[in-house]
Amino acid sequence: MRTVYFDYNATTPLDPAVRTAMLPFLEGEFGNPSSIHHVGRRARAFLDDARDRVARVFACKPSEVIFTSGGTESNNLAVLGVARRFRDKGRHIITSAVEHHAILHPCEYLREKEGFEVTLLPVDRAGRVSPDDLRKALRPDTVLVSVMAANNEVGTLQPVAELGAICRERGVLFHTDAAQWLGKEPFAGIHQFNADLVSICAHKFHGTKGAGALFVRSPLLPDPILFGGGHENERRAGTENIPAIAGMTEAIERFVRTPVFNREKLAPLAARLREAAGSIPSVTHRSPSDGCLANTVSFSVNGCDSIVLLAGLDLEGICASSGSACSTGSLEPSHVLMAMGCDAEESNALVRFSVGRESTMDEVELVCVALPAVINRARGGEL
Ligand SMILES: Cc1ncc(COP(=O)(O)O)c(C=O)c1O
Repeated sequence: MRTVYFDYNATTPLDPAVRTAMLPFLEGEFGNPSSIHHVGRRARAFLDDARDRVARVFACKPSEVIFTSGGTESNNLAVLGVARRFRDKGRHIITSAVEHHAILHPCEYLREKEGFEVTLLPVDRAGRVSPDDLRKALRPDTVLVSVMAANNEVGTLQPVAELGAICRERGVLFHTDAAQWLGKEPFAGIHQFNADLVSICAHKFHGTKGAGALFVRSPLLPDPILFGGGHENERRAGTENIPAIAGMTEAIERFVRTPVFNREKLAPLAARLREAAGSIPSVTHRSPSDGCLANTVSFSVNGCDSIVLLAGLDLEGICASSGSACSTGSLEPSHVLMAMGCDAEESNALVRFSVGRESTMDEVELVCVALPAVINRARGGEL
C-alpha cells in the first residue's frame, strides 16, 4: 500500500543534507564541549560556531540563542522561567485559548501551584486573537504575554508583531511560540515578531527531533528550569546535544530564510484538498481561508469521531492528524476548536491535513478519492 504522508505539522522527514551535517558528531567527533582537552575544545569550537550561524540567520546576538531539546522545552523555559524570575513584580500571565499544550500546561501549573493568575485570550471563529482584547487584559501585575505565531491544528496566523508592539509599549514581556512558523512563513529576522522570547523547533522544518532553541532578547535572563552544570551560559544545564544542534543549525540555514514550505507549490495542493473536503456534506472548514499556513487544511466532519476518521484514512495509507500530535490517542475534544466556538461534538471530529515539500498533486488526488468513502464508513461507525 502506498503511504501518503499529510502530517507535516506533526513532523517532517530529516533532510539528507541535515543528516550529513549531523554525521561527524555521531561518529568521530564525540567530544563534550565542557571538557578541557583538545577533543572537548573541538566540540566547543563547533558549538560556538553553530550559535554564531543561527544568530546570523536570526539577526540577533549569539548570546541570545539558547539551545534546547525542542519546542516543548523552549516553551516551558519561556513561561516558567519568566514567571518565576518576575514573581515579585507580579503574578499575572496572559496567553491564548488556542496555544499548544506546551504553553497551556505550564501556565496551569503556575496557577495551581505557584499562585499565578492566568488570563486566556479568546479567539474569533478563525482562531485569531484580537489586539484589543490583549490591551484590555493587560494589568499592572502582568509579567508575561505568550501568543503563538501560527496554530498547529488549524494553521491560523496570529498578528504577533502587533501584539508584541502592544506589550512593548506597556513594558510587558512578550513570548511567541514560532514552532509552526519557521520554515513555513516569510522570515526576515527574529525581531519581526516584536517578541522578547521566541520558541523554535527543528523537526518541523526537516531538522531532527530533540532539537530546538529559545531566543531570549538580552539582557533578559529567565530562571532556569533545569539545574546542574553551567551550560548555555547558566541558562540550561545539561551536556549539549551536539549532533542535534549540528542538524538544526544546518536546517535553519537552509530552510528558514527561504521557507522550505513553498507557498506557491503548496497552495494549489491545499486548495484542491479544501475543495474536495468542502464538497462532502456536513464537512465544515476550520482553517481560515485568509491568514493561514499555506500547507494546512483542517475541517470537522459532522457526526463522526476523529479517531475513527483517522483510523479509516490510515487503512487507506493516508497519514493525517486530529490536530496536536500529542493528543492523538486521547478522546479529548480539540481545545482549539472549542475556543473557536465549536461544540464538543464538532471539536471531536477534527481532521487535519498538512502537506509539505515531498507532497504531490497525485497524492492529493488519491486522498480526494478516498476521503468521501472513509467519511461514509465512519458515519456508519465502521472503519
Ligand atoms: C505550536 C507548537 N508548539 C510546540 C510544539 C512542541 O514541539 P515538540 O513536541 O517537538 O517539543 C509543537 C509540536 O507539535 C507545536 O506544534
